[in-house]
Amino acid sequence: MNPIIQANGIHLGYKNDIIIKNASFSIYPKEFVFVSGQSGSGKSTLLRSMYGDLPLKSGSLEICGMEMFKANKKNIEILRRHLGIIFQDYKLIKDFNVEKNVMLPMIIGGFTKESCQTQTDRLLTHIKLSHKGSKYPMELSGGEQQRVAMARALAHNPLLILADEPTGNLDDYSSEVIWNLLRGVNTQLGITVVVVTHRIPEALGIHYRHFHIEEGVIYELS
Ligand SMILES: Nc1ncnc2c1ncn2[C@@H]1O[C@H](COP(=O)(O)OP(=O)(O)O)[C@@H](O)[C@H]1O
Ligand SMILES: [Mg+2]
Repeated sequence: MNPIIQANGIHLGYKNDIIIKNASFSIYPKEFVFVSGQSGSGKSTLLRSMYGDLPLKSGSLEICGMEMFKANKKNIEILRRHLGIIFQDYKLIKDFNVEKNVMLPMIIGGFTKESCQTQTDRLLTHIKLSHKGSKYPMELSGGEQQRVAMARALAHNPLLILADEPTGNLDDYSSEVIWNLLRGVNTQLGITVVVVTHRIPEALGIHYRHFHIEEGVIYELS
């Protein structure tokens, strides 16, 4: 099987600062991967390179078959149709209600109006927020907002979920809801999941791979 993420000797950083040095790794379809590291170690930097928000300094990084080193804006836009991205601070659109936030990637992806509605209803049931479809992000708790962000990330049937500290701001209950969803999409739908976090949950109940960043170097732990 071909890797869904293949990094060969990548260097990442900002201006003259190299944050990730010479990293090489392969992640395969259906894997669940954690990337840990202290604050400031480069976790978000690594993830940003995977969704095309940060150009590589050097090396080769293939995501879903696309070479990021030479990807242009259009390539990245196409790639993102296959990605579900989740941020620590949710990044919902505050002027859109819950339904519209979840629907947005499907509208961009050219889904029919009817399938947008069916999929949105299904996802809202899944995140237990069917009764809040017409609420705006400001009217939801942090945990509820992150569940909406999860639904949005899943709406267009992505191949790969990239999550940046998805439970960093959440209480234990909401964190558990998020981990259950991520575990569910991985084991039941076979979606590849990469989560960067400074703390891996105990008793996740599934097999996962674990990479750790220290002083710019990415190690695989087992
Ligand atoms: N836009 C940026 N410009 C310059 N330096 C940055 C930028 N973003 C992050 N950094 C630096 O890169 C390092 C890694 O940051 P980051 O990837 O956000 O770490 P983490 O997500 O592990 O906390 C930090 O030293 C940070 O200050
Ligand atoms: Mg970060």
